[in-house]
Amino acid sequence: MVGSVTKVAFIVLVTLAINIPCLEAGIGDFDNFLKAQSEEAHKIALESYVPTPELVTNELNYHVHLSLKNISRRQLGQKSNAGVCESTNPIDNCWRCNKDWANDRYQLAKCGKGFGRRAIGGLGGPIYVVTDNSDENMTDPKEGTLRYAVTQQGPLWITFAHSMIITLQQELLISSDKTIDGRGANVQIRDGAGLTIQYVNNVIIHGIRIKNIVPKEGGMIRDAYNHVGFRTRSDGDAISVFGASNIWIDHISLSYSADGLIDVIQGSTAITISNCHMTRHNDVMLFGASDTYNGDKIMQITLVFNHFGQGLIQRMPRCRWGFFHVLNNDYTHWMMYAIGGSAGPTILSQGNRFIAPNNDVAKEITHRINAGEEVWKNWQWQSDMDLLMNNATFQTSGAPIQITHKKGLIMKPRDGAHASRLTRHSGALNCFVGQPC
Ligand SMILES: *[C@@H]1O[C@H](CO)[C@@H](O)[C@H](O)[C@H]1NC(C)=O
Ligand SMILES: *[C@@H]1O[C@H](CO)[C@@H](O)[C@H](O)[C@H]1NC(C)=O
Ligand SMILES: *[C@@H]1O[C@H](CO)[C@@H](O)[C@H](O)[C@H]1NC(C)=O
Repeated sequence: MVGSVTKVAFIVLVTLAINIPCLEAGIGDFDNFLKAQSEEAHKIALESYVPTPELVTNELNYHVHLSLKNISRRQLGQKSNAGVCESTNPIDNCWRCNKDWANDRYQLAKCGKGFGRRAIGGLGGPIYVVTDNSDENMTDPKEGTLRYAVTQQGPLWITFAHSMIITLQQELLISSDKTIDGRGANVQIRDGAGLTIQYVNNVIIHGIRIKNIVPKEGGMIRDAYNHVGFRTRSDGDAISVFGASNIWIDHISLSYSADGLIDVIQGSTAITISNCHMTRHNDVMLFGASDTYNGDKIMQITLVFNHFGQGLIQRMPRCRWGFFHVLNNDYTHWMMYAIGGSAGPTILSQGNRFIAPNNDVAKEITHRINAGEEVWKNWQWQSDMDLLMNNATFQTSGAPIQITHKKGLIMKPRDGAHASRLTRHSGALNCFVGQPC
């Protein structure tokens, strides 16, 4: 009891020292185009929601099980050296071992797993090569720039001619049916505005590095091939997902930004965040921004094979309302807590490794916010086969999450002892054309 009071005091203290996050659509003029777009996005979100999320979590556990079986078989016969595929998880196994990946980029669209598994991004569209790292014209972006690419009509698979640093003058508004594919180049988005995925559907972001994202003033910005809108100030999120669905964020390195690294809010759903590496940041991930916005009940997010690394403080993630599958992630650092929430989220934590910090009042992984025990005791927060190290504790609550069977198949998660291997290649990869990645 004394311990938990001390811990609350500690967290309040640290929180006061930190800026208060604010919920902002960023839209300065909610015109008819945006109204129609938000209604369409909401309709797709409702269709993308799955009534039995346990089928999706169970299926992902099954894939992990199969892929680990394959690895041990492969490792029996092969030494790990250049040219040998080092893929360690079922998402990566789907493409990394193919040395011809650069001529078969669309294969990635078939590799998604978890709630965001239906995201195919720019599949079916042409490949567009970004050749120009500048970002000068917000309303009529120059051909060859990333901003030009993400505002084109229809599906587009966006790649990069060479390594580049892109400093965005204002937030990058990504339209539907796009893949941003950084493989084969070192693409850094830094020192400017971040990525915004708002009222759109079907986006894949893969293989880039994002850091030091800062707030920007806003103004007239193109968000689609046929629309330019007035934006207010952006908060400085590295990636902001707002009223969007079927989004897959994979192999991104994220660090040090003004607001969140990845925020998912306003009725977004069908999302997978995988193979990301996060470092040096306070509010890491916010899933749902308001205790009074129950539209976030449809939020379903998979967080898998991510490495929560050095210099992180809290919110890995901080959840509200929805269903969150936190599977086989490696939590090596946190200063306050790892997983938090309010407004009754369902959290299924499976096969993660949690290494607590040395601070005695930060051993507890979970943190409940804005509710007394008589309320949160009903929230379903479950821990299966997590590996708790350095005296980490996981306070569970609520009724057990019913794992639904399909064809008699029920797959236990791989335990947290495998998490460091499954996440070994998190973050943006250095892929070379003509070699397995
Ligand atoms: C495992 O290996 C077999 C044979 O090489 C292959 O057909 C199968 O797709 C692999 N499964 C996974 C999940 O990687
Ligand atoms: C953006 O491009 C348009 C069309 O070329 C031009 O009229 C406008 O002045 C440019 N704006 C800026 C800020 O360069
Ligand atoms: C873990 O807890 C035990 C028992 O309270 C204590 O003796 C030990 O020093 C703790 N270890 C760490 C690394 O905090």
